[in-house]
Amino acid sequence: MDIAVYGLGYVGLTTSLYFAEMGHCVVAVDVDESKLRQLQSGKVPFVEHGIDDLLEKNLPTKRISFSSSLSAAAKSEIHFICLGTPSNVDGLPQTEKIMALVDDLVRHFQDPKYLVIKSTVPVGFCDQLDKHVKDSLKKSKKNFLVDVISNPEFLREGWATQDTFHPHRVIIGTDSPDSEDVMKELYHSLQCPTLVMSRRSSEMSKYAANALLATKISVMNELSQLADKNGADIEMIRQAVGLDPRIGEQFLNSGVGFGGSCLPKDLRALIAQGDQQGLKLEIMQSVTLVNTSQKKLLLDKMKMALGDLRGTQIAIWGVAFKADVDDIREASSLFFISELIKLGANLSIFDSLALEQLKLYLREHKLNSAQVKLCSSQTQALDKADALLVMTESLEFRQANLALVKSLLKGSKIFDARNVFHPLAVRQAGLSYYGIGRSGDGL
Ligand code: UDX
Repeated sequence: MDIAVYGLGYVGLTTSLYFAEMGHCVVAVDVDESKLRQLQSGKVPFVEHGIDDLLEKNLPTKRISFSSSLSAAAKSEIHFICLGTPSNVDGLPQTEKIMALVDDLVRHFQDPKYLVIKSTVPVGFCDQLDKHVKDSLKKSKKNFLVDVISNPEFLREGWATQDTFHPHRVIIGTDSPDSEDVMKELYHSLQCPTLVMSRRSSEMSKYAANALLATKISVMNELSQLADKNGADIEMIRQAVGLDPRIGEQFLNSGVGFGGSCLPKDLRALIAQGDQQGLKLEIMQSVTLVNTSQKKLLLDKMKMALGDLRGTQIAIWGVAFKADVDDIREASSLFFISELIKLGANLSIFDSLALEQLKLYLREHKLNSAQVKLCSSQTQALDKADALLVMTESLEFRQANLALVKSLLKGSKIFDARNVFHPLAVRQAGLSYYGIGRSGDGL
């Protein structure tokens, strides 16, 4: 089939490459010309496991091409919209760019099309879009059908390729038997359940999944606060409860909260959609509050343990919102970086993937002061630092040589925002440990 995919972030690009790999003819569209040039030359402009190989494999086959031209792309039969939908100030996702793109496409369409919305959109958006498209077609006297289908993605950043090729489920939101057939045909080689439902249920499934994931994290984070107070270890509790299959072992890691481009945004969107309907989504609000308080609590621990932070040097390992990605959107590290700068600390920061993004962020937020030094290695960041703050759950940090850490640090305190270390191992190396819900240090 001829497929056009719009928006080449990690969702759009993996979707494009998946369909190319399945033998379809894909035109991948974006407005960013420099990104298109990079992709055409075989370079992926962000970090995703396995995606470079897929691009290298599919480019020479000509099953995928990159373009900014809507007129060419509009000739395709199936159109996947994968534009980002960042939050508005009211918490609702921005859908204006999708509307504008669809308006442009409809102007170019000359025959029936399937318009598939992968972007995360408020519940009811596809119904509105469907009406809008029908009205536009009628006005321009185009006598054919453009069917709007909801098909949310559940991709983890960094693992989007794996999740695209081996998803847990495919959700198809449509009441049209024809669209259902086309979508099932497109995904026929996937070994997972396919659920067909209304567009509204499909849209809400995406929010429900992220709400539950975020809730698991915040519940464990709230419990970690209690564990800290009463001398229990949240890591042992995590293992104990995770063995219950009704609970499941994933997404129970305590830390300084969830960040990234999805969970925080989708919670805001849910709360705002509740507000619109006169519903106060109290659990969602609490999940958000706990997520914020986790960061403040660790900062308080640092202030108590280190005293006046003016002139201290803090080594920071990890900036990205999670391990193995270069994305710093809503990363917890950004809170610590700006607060520690305000408190007068000097920061030596290392992240193997995200320093370029951090540089841009610091410049944009006028934080690129003499207080910040970006380091090219873990050890360089540690040099003569008073304390180490570990911000991401990267394997390279987990496997750090603690004796070496001890020898390079001037001070002896480790603040472990993701519980990557075992407190005992840290203490045995002659260092003091401050984790999340791990007690033992009396803080
Ligand atoms: C998430 C969903 O997992 C994915 O299904 C959806 O499509 C998009 O949003 P992503 O944003 O890539 O994916 O990140 P994820 O791996 O879910 O992690 C989100 C945040 O939660 C990270 O900051 C991570 O550090 C944190 N996290 C995750 C925890 O604090 N504890 C955990 O146990 C798991």
